[in-house]
Amino acid sequence: MGAINTVGVVGLGTMGAGIVEVFAKQGLATIAVEIDQSALDRGRAIVASSTQRAVDRGRMSEQDAKDLVDSISFTLEFSDLAAADLVIEAVPERMSIKKDLFSRLDAVCPPETIFATNTSSLSVTDIAATTSRPDRLIGMHFFNPAPVMKLVEVVRTVLTAQEVVSRISELARACGKSPVVVGDRAGFVVNTLLVSYLNDAVNVFDQSRVSREGIDTAMTVGALLPMGPLALCDLIGLDVCLEIMDVLFAQSRDQVHAPAPLMREMVSAGLLGRKSGRGFFTYEKPGSGRVIPDELTPADFEPVTLPRQVYLVGDGMQCEELVKLCAQAGVSSHVVSYDQFDPGQVPEGVPVLVSVKPVQRAIDIATQMGPRIDEVIGLHVLFPNQKGQLVEIAATPFSSDQLVRISQSIALGASASPVICDDDPGQVVGRLLSPYLNDAVRMVASGYVSADDVDTAMMLGCGYPRGPIAFLANFSTPDTICDVLEQISRKTQLSRHLPVSALTDAAIYGVGIDQLLTESS
Ligand code: 3HC
Repeated sequence: MGAINTVGVVGLGTMGAGIVEVFAKQGLATIAVEIDQSALDRGRAIVASSTQRAVDRGRMSEQDAKDLVDSISFTLEFSDLAAADLVIEAVPERMSIKKDLFSRLDAVCPPETIFATNTSSLSVTDIAATTSRPDRLIGMHFFNPAPVMKLVEVVRTVLTAQEVVSRISELARACGKSPVVVGDRAGFVVNTLLVSYLNDAVNVFDQSRVSREGIDTAMTVGALLPMGPLALCDLIGLDVCLEIMDVLFAQSRDQVHAPAPLMREMVSAGLLGRKSGRGFFTYEKPGSGRVIPDELTPADFEPVTLPRQVYLVGDGMQCEELVKLCAQAGVSSHVVSYDQFDPGQVPEGVPVLVSVKPVQRAIDIATQMGPRIDEVIGLHVLFPNQKGQLVEIAATPFSSDQLVRISQSIALGASASPVICDDDPGQVVGRLLSPYLNDAVRMVASGYVSADDVDTAMMLGCGYPRGPIAFLANFSTPDTICDVLEQISRKTQLSRHLPVSALTDAAIYGVGIDQLLTESS
C-alpha cells in the first residue's frame, strides 16, 4: 500500500468540513465533495469561518488562511475521488445512505483506496461488509470541533487489515491527533460514556428543579468540564445524541440507555441545537455558537438580607467548608453534628443549613423539625478550583423560597456560584459524574479498552481535565462513590446505576481502582 497523499472527504457538514480543514492544514491534497452547490458552498463557508477565527486570534496570517481554503478542491464531481488514497465519509447517519455511498465509491476508486467512515453511531462492520474491500474499510471517528479536539477513535472491525489500522493511526498522528484504536461496539469508547452522561443530564434537567444554567454551571465549575452538558448537546446536535442513544439502547436493552423523552421531543420539534439556532439554549442564528437571551433566561438575582447566624448541621471537612463560606458572606454559624442535632435547640428565626453528603440528606433533618420543616435546606460546597467555587443548594420539597434565596445570597456573598437543585443523592455533580465513572470502570473491566486509553480518550475527545480512572484514583474513594451510586440507584430504580463489582471490590479490599483494573487486564 502506498503513502496517503491525497484524501477525499464526502459530506461537508460541521464534522466533514472540520475534517477537511484538518487534512488541508497538514498539507495533504484534499478533495471535498458534496451533492449540490448550496451544500458545497456551505461546507466551504464553514472551513473559511474556522480559519478566519484563527486569523482573528493571530494564529494564522490572512494569506495563509486564504491559501489553505484555496488549496482544497471543492467539487460536485464524485469521480474526482478516484485520485484519493483515502476517502472518508461524513454524510448523514443513515445506513442506507452510507451503503449507497460506499457502493458508488467502490465503482469509482481503485481497489487499494482505503475507505473510512466517521460514523458516530452505526456499525462499522455492517458498512464494511457491503463493500468490495472490507479489509480496507475502517472507522475514523473525529470529535467536534474536529480542528480542535485531539482524539481520533480508529475503529477496527474483525475484518480490517492490521496494515490499514497502522496507516490510519499514523495519518492521525501526522495530523496532530492522538489515535486510540478500539473495537466496533455501539458508541465506541467516548460516545458510550459521553452521550450516556448527556442523556442522564437531560433527564435530571427535565425531572428536577435544576435550571439549564444551573446544570451547566455545576459541571463546568464543580467538575471542571470545558462545557456544560446541555450546551454540549446543542454543540453536538440533539438529533445526533438521540441517534447514539437509540443505538446504545438497541445494543444493551437497558433502560438506562433509553433516550431521554425530552431529547426525543426536542428533536421532533426541530430544536436540534446550534445548527437549527435553538436547542436547550437559543442562538443568534442557525450555526452560531452565540447564546442570546430567551424566555428561560433567569432574571437578575436580587440578594436578600442575610441572617446574622445560621444553625449548621454536619461534620467533617465538608462542614468546615460551609462554615468558611458563611463567614465569607458575613454570617456566623452554630455547628452541631448530625448525631447531636436537637430540633428543640434551634433558636426562632435561625435557618438550618445541612451539610449534605451521599448518606445524609437535608430531608432527614427537615422531617425532625415539625412545623418548622420549611426552615431547613441542604448545602454542598465543592472545593475551590481555578473556575471558582460551586455551592449546590439542595432544597427539600418543603424548603421555603426565602431560604433558597438566603442560601443563594450566602453563596454569592462568598463569591461562589450557587446552583439550586433537589435534595437528591449526589446533588448535581455527584449525581451526573458517578454513573459516568461507573460506566468507565465497567468498560475497562469488560476488556474493551485499557484504563490508559479510556483516560486519554475522554481527555482528548471531550477536553476533560482528567480521565475517569485517574479521577477515581486521585479524587474519590471507592467507598464514597459506591455509597453515592447505591443512593442514586435507589432513586432512579435502575440497576445499572449500582456500583460495578470492580468498584465494590476496591471499596471492600481497600485497593485503588486503578491498581485493580491494571492487575486484572
Ligand atoms: N472550529 C475551529 N476552531 C475552534 C472551534 C471551531 N468550531 N471552536 C473553538 N476553536 C478553537 C479556537 O479558535 C481556539 O483556538 P486557539 O486557542 O488556537 O485560539 C480554541 O479552539 C479554544 O476556543 P475558545 O477559546 O473559543 O473556546 P473554549 O476555550 O471555550 O473551547 C471548545 C471551546 C474547544 C469547544 C471547548 O469548550 C471544549 O473542549 N468543549 C468540549 C467539546 C467536546 O466534548 N467535544 C466532543 C463532542 S462528542 C463528538 O464530537 C463525537 C460525535 O460522534 C458526537
